[in-house]
Amino acid sequence: LELQGMNFNLSEEQLSVQEAARDFAQNELLPGIVERDNEAKFPAEQVRKMGELGFMGMMVSPEYGGSGMDTVSYVLAMEEISKVDPSASVIMSVNNSLVCWGLEAYGTEEQKHKYLTPLASGQIIGAFCLSEPEAGSDATSQATTAEDKGDYYLVNGTKNWITNGNSSSVALVIAQTDRDKKHRGINALIVEKGTPGFTVGKKEDKMGIRASDTHSLLFTDVKVPKENRIGDDGFGFKFAMSTLNGGRIGIAAQALGIAAGAYELSLKYSQERKAFGRQIFDHQAIQFKLAEMATKIEAARLLVYKAARLKDEHKDYVQAAAMAKLFASEVAMWATTEAVQIHGGYGYVKEYHVERLMRDAKITQIYEGTSEIQKLVIARELIR
Ligand code: CAA
Ligand code: FAD
Repeated sequence: LELQGMNFNLSEEQLSVQEAARDFAQNELLPGIVERDNEAKFPAEQVRKMGELGFMGMMVSPEYGGSGMDTVSYVLAMEEISKVDPSASVIMSVNNSLVCWGLEAYGTEEQKHKYLTPLASGQIIGAFCLSEPEAGSDATSQATTAEDKGDYYLVNGTKNWITNGNSSSVALVIAQTDRDKKHRGINALIVEKGTPGFTVGKKEDKMGIRASDTHSLLFTDVKVPKENRIGDDGFGFKFAMSTLNGGRIGIAAQALGIAAGAYELSLKYSQERKAFGRQIFDHQAIQFKLAEMATKIEAARLLVYKAARLKDEHKDYVQAAAMAKLFASEVAMWATTEAVQIHGGYGYVKEYHVERLMRDAKITQIYEGTSEIQKLVIARELIR
């Protein structure tokens, strides 16, 4: 399903990225996917290959080890990988949008050479640490502190729900330095694994995206050198919000891929399965489900491509990203539920894949800002 009737002027390069991602998903991610989901096993080997293929730092300049591609190429790859393996795509999305993008946009030359280059080339992976046990949607209520000690920050606190929590080598940590200044007293720090006092906490046992590793991260008197601060003093919250604007395009593309993957499996199954003497596709109730799925997925795709295009054209994309994420994630949850229905009893067991996609879809309505928070962001933009 390629935006039928119009190719959105995708370039040869963008189409070849899409094809490479599709091939990679079928050949490298599909094998073993049920086992990885069952065992909550991190796809280390697959992620290493994604790095080699340039999927871990897609939008980063080649000067810093990246692929130098645009956001449209990134969403095309995210969609294809998410059709098969949303666990792999969240690992990819966090590294690309929440870690590499922010470092390239706001990091110093030294930070880029030291951290961005290995992250973008896939030698190491990164984590983005904003959420806390008591601060998710209400992200300005940071309890983690980064006390200014002159030439270093002393970090104390707990971050929750951190994607790539165990597998990452570098974490971007948001923490409060000056509470009186509220969100303008927050900093973003680059913290290396292995720094004394920085430990990995419990692994979450999740409903979906089970092969991604979600952990709490604990900080006890962790000394972070001043040169590891991103941007000026107090820039940390703006850094997080600005990074999340782009991250939401990545998650919108993930949701789109989950919906499209479930749709493609359902269309195929409907032409194979027979009931009452004919293909179930020939029952109008099933046709109508597929027609509605195709329509909503196409609408989600247009919103995702629009947000990506706006970002590539350096136009304001805050609202477009929130709309794409809100709509695509709702479509993903709805379409995967319909996909299970179309598969009947076979949809309820693991080997037909739609059961997993339905579980994977749910998180897209929660992380990088819940659906309610996207509505809040969209509404604020309406009157800005
Ligand atoms: N882009 C740029 N700046 C933004 C912004 C945006 N989208 N949203 C807010 N800001 C800025 C505001 O301009 C303001 O700065 P100034 O005062 O300097 O102008 C500052 O941030 C504070 O904004 P508000 O006063 O609006 O703050 P608020 O507390 O009322 O609400 C919020 C802010 C939009 C609800 C925000 O807290 C939010 O986005 N919450 C959701 C957090 C989130 O998305 N977490 C995701 C964690 S990462 C993750 O989930 C990864 C993963 O799963 C894979
Ligand atoms: P809450 O903020 O407590 O929200 C509870 C409910 O109240 C939600 O329905 C919410 O929409 C609603 N609500 C809250 N405030 C409002 C309001 N003002 N108006 C209307 N409704 C409201 N975070 C990171 O920093 N890095 C990561 O890598 C990361 N990865 C994650 C991976 C997974 C698998 C999960 C589950 C979470 C991850 N998160 C990550 C955290 C995620 O971003 C938060 O869970 C999310 O932002 C919601 O925060 P919360 O869980 O505290 O829910």
